[in-house]
Amino acid sequence: MSLEEVRNYINHIRREMMGKPLSRADLDENPLEQFAKWMEEAVNAQILDPYAMCLSTVNAAGHPSSRIVYWRDVESDGFVFYTNYNSRKGIEIAANPYVSLNFHWSELDRQIRIEGPIKKVSTETSDKYWASRPRESRIGAWASAQSSIVSSPDQLQKSVEKLHEQFGEGDIPRPAHWGGYVVEPERIEFWQGRPSRLHDRFVYIKSGDDWAMEQLSP
Ligand SMILES: Cc1cc2nc3c(=O)[nH]c(=O)nc-3n(C[C@H](O)[C@H](O)[C@H](O)COP(=O)(O)O)c2cc1C
Repeated sequence: MSLEEVRNYINHIRREMMGKPLSRADLDENPLEQFAKWMEEAVNAQILDPYAMCLSTVNAAGHPSSRIVYWRDVESDGFVFYTNYNSRKGIEIAANPYVSLNFHWSELDRQIRIEGPIKKVSTETSDKYWASRPRESRIGAWASAQSSIVSSPDQLQKSVEKLHEQFGEGDIPRPAHWGGYVVEPERIEFWQGRPSRLHDRFVYIKSGDDWAMEQLSP
């Protein structure tokens, strides 16, 4: 399709969302328990990568950027993912440790929006997860200076080969620049797509140790 054809296509396509109504009575008092319920339904619906989430960061100049990362764990009621601390996202998080996450499951017409402060997980937590990663992924984490400019097409492959020689069959330690972050939610919104764009939205807002819930207009 040309760009003009794509434009025509997206201008005219309309998909009615058919999700079941979501009401206050359906929702758990605790948004993390509610999240677990929806994740179970996403897994049962056989959604591909339901734990892939869009992470948005904002740099020191106030400019946002987004990318997908895999949600890997729950720690201190927060969402854990792993990455390179020196990457673009790592630099932006160091400048502004407040982020948003977004899960979108189109097969269920559902979206979950999460916002809150972010911090590195403990080195013990990162070590534990590192140890569970396949050897090739561990080499990959050493080989790639994530987000840096690639100077030649074979740079990555050469680096991988060198690292295989260096580590041989021995242990591959976790690089200090690779590890986890935990996002501790202060706001979590559950969005259920409904016919005629009359979607159901409920937001939980943290107040002290408790959560207050409000319904939002679609
Ligand atoms: C489905 C999917 C899962 C991904 N999971 C991760 C992840 O868990 N950690 C990560 O660092 N990058 C992951 N990526 C790559 C990121 O989207 C991104 O390209 C990379 O982290 C560099 O982002 P940055 O330059 O903004 O730091 C994933 C990409 C996709 C499409």
